Amino acid sequence: MSLTQARVSRGDSPVRKTTMQTLQEKKRLQQPITAITAYDYPTARLADEAGIDLILVGDSVAMAVLGHDDTLSLTVDEMLHHARAVRRGVQQAFLTVDMPYGSCHVNSDDTVRHALRFIKEAGADAVKIEGGRKRAPLIEQLAMAEILVVGHIGLMPQSVHRMGGYKVQGRSVVDMQELIDDALALEHAGAVAIVLEGIPRELAADITRAVGIPTIGIGAGPDCDGQILVFHDLFRLTFSPSAKFVRSFGDAEHLMRDGLADYCAAVKDRTFPADGESYHLPAKTVAELAHEQEAEAVAR
Ligand code: KIV
Repeated sequence: MSLTQARVSRGDSPVRKTTMQTLQEKKRLQQPITAITAYDYPTARLADEAGIDLILVGDSVAMAVLGHDDTLSLTVDEMLHHARAVRRGVQQAFLTVDMPYGSCHVNSDDTVRHALRFIKEAGADAVKIEGGRKRAPLIEQLAMAEILVVGHIGLMPQSVHRMGGYKVQGRSVVDMQELIDDALALEHAGAVAIVLEGIPRELAADITRAVGIPTIGIGAGPDCDGQILVFHDLFRLTFSPSAKFVRSFGDAEHLMRDGLADYCAAVKDRTFPADGESYHLPAKTVAELAHEQEAEAVAR
């Protein structure tokens, strides 16, 4: 833990906040939307300072950071803990927080109450909810409470048991039409964007053309309005083989393994900490100690 954590100035240029209107405008202008997950202050801050448009506190935190096998056990309080940390690192990006499994599955009043906590206690700009047509009434109710909602269809990790595993969705003509109907229903209900996960590229392109709101793809090919990846996938920090759609843009695992090995070696051979990495007594104290020692020597 460093003694100081002052925020590096971003110069004189004012930080321009990304809003749902910014995302909408990017779709209109066919400018790709950049998005990534973040779960803590440093990763959020790095993503924000890199100019990422949308930062998602994804419930993938369960696997990426907390070591669970799936997202199902995650609670609202756990999500809030991570969302607050991320908020402290984000100045410009559109901050979206996942509603964890169970938080929007009981009744709509409960859902609104949970979503309000993400807005009020974590400063989220929007919440994300997995599910298509059957979530439309919920999204309408959230919209009535002025809560922005990002939808999420296709491969939905919270439905892992129903899907029988993490499988690509929307491969048959019937399934394609279902997903197009889901996307249209989400837009109609007031969603401001839709994450398309794990669906064929052709279907993602159809949905992106069919809806007026931005689509953000993950494992959905290049024709979406934007792309999102899990932060730890991007930097190869997952301890498991990557999915087909993941491209790693850095190797944090090896960087950290090498750094940790070097640290252990330096402690063991006593080259860390060096004198320059140590605090020293002030000259006044050194002089006082010397004086005391002299006095003791005289007395003996
Ligand atoms: O939780 C998450 O990381 C997500 C992304 C895969 C979009 O929902």
